[in-house]
Amino acid sequence: MGSSSNGSPAKPFKFLIYGKTGWIGGLLGKLCESQGIQYTYGSGRLESRQTLVADLDAIKPTHVFNAAGVTGRPNVDWCESHKVETIRTNVVGTLTLADVEELLKNYENVCTLRVRMPISSDLTNPRNFITKISRYDKVVDIPNSMTILDELLPISIEMAKRNLTGIYNFTNPGCVSHNEILEMYRDYIEPSFTWKNFNLEEQAKVIIAPRSNNELDAIKLKTEFPELLSIKESLIKYVFGPNRTTPVAA
Ligand SMILES: NC(=O)c1ccc[n+]([C@@H]2O[C@H](COP(=O)([O-])OP(=O)(O)OC[C@H]3O[C@@H](n4cnc5c(N)ncnc54)[C@H](OP(=O)(O)O)[C@@H]3O)[C@@H](O)[C@H]2O)c1
Repeated sequence: MGSSSNGSPAKPFKFLIYGKTGWIGGLLGKLCESQGIQYTYGSGRLESRQTLVADLDAIKPTHVFNAAGVTGRPNVDWCESHKVETIRTNVVGTLTLADVEELLKNYENVCTLRVRMPISSDLTNPRNFITKISRYDKVVDIPNSMTILDELLPISIEMAKRNLTGIYNFTNPGCVSHNEILEMYRDYIEPSFTWKNFNLEEQAKVIIAPRSNNELDAIKLKTEFPELLSIKESLIKYVFGPNRTTPVAA
C-alpha cells in the first residue's frame, strides 16, 4: 500500500512492514536491507486499530507492506478449527489496516498481491512448498500457479516504488504440477528421491480444509514486468539451479 502519490523522486522511501516474525515478512526486510531501503516492522496487531494508527503516526511510512496473517500450524487446516482467530486477523485485520491507512490517503493506494503456493530457494525451510511436498507421504499431482519468492518479492518492492495499485495475480506465468516439481527435485537435488501419488478423494481423507488448485492469469504482472520468467524457468533459475547437487549432464 502506498501513501505517497506525488511521485516525488526526492522523497526517500520508508517502508512499514507487517509480518516481522513471518517467512515472507522476514524475506522482505532482508531485501530492503540489501537495497538500502529504510524500513521498520510494525509492532501493532492487525485486529487492534489503535496500535496500527500508533505505528503509522510514529513511523510515517511512504508505503506499508502487509505480510501478516494467520497461516496455521502445522498447516492451514488449523484455520478450520480456529475460524474466529483467522477471520479476525486475515479478514477484519487486513481491512482495518487498509482503513487506517485511508486516514492518511484513500483506498485507491492499495495494491493487493495474490500469492499462491510460495516457493523460495531455501529448500530447508518447512514453509517452502517444495520442502512440504517432498516430505509428504503422498502427494496429489495437479498443475497450479505458484509464486517464486526470490524472483517476485524484489518485484513487489519495485511495484511500491512505481506506486502501482489494484489487484495483481502475483504468480509466475504458467502452471507446474506437483510431479513436475518433484521430478526437478530428483534430477537436481536427490537422484534417489521417490514419491507416491494419490488422488483428490484420497487426499480429502487426510486434510480438513479442501486445498485450492488453479491457474491464475499473470498477464497483468507480465505486462508491467516483461522480464518475468515462466514458472518452470523461474524454478530452475532461482531454486533448482542454485541448489543443484547432481552433476550437470555433458
Ligand atoms: N505461506 C503460504 O503458503 C501462503 C500462501 C498464500 C498467501 N500467504 C499469505 O502471505 C502472508 C504471509 O505468509 P507467511 O507464509 O509469511 O506467514 P507466516 O510465516 O505464518 O507469518 C505470519 C506473520 O503474520 C504475523 N501475524 C499473525 N497474526 C497477526 C496479527 N493479528 N497482527 C499482526 N501480525 C500478525 C505473525 O506474527 P506473530 O508470530 O507475532 O503472530 C507472522 O509474523 C499471510 O497473509 C498468508 O496468508 C501465504
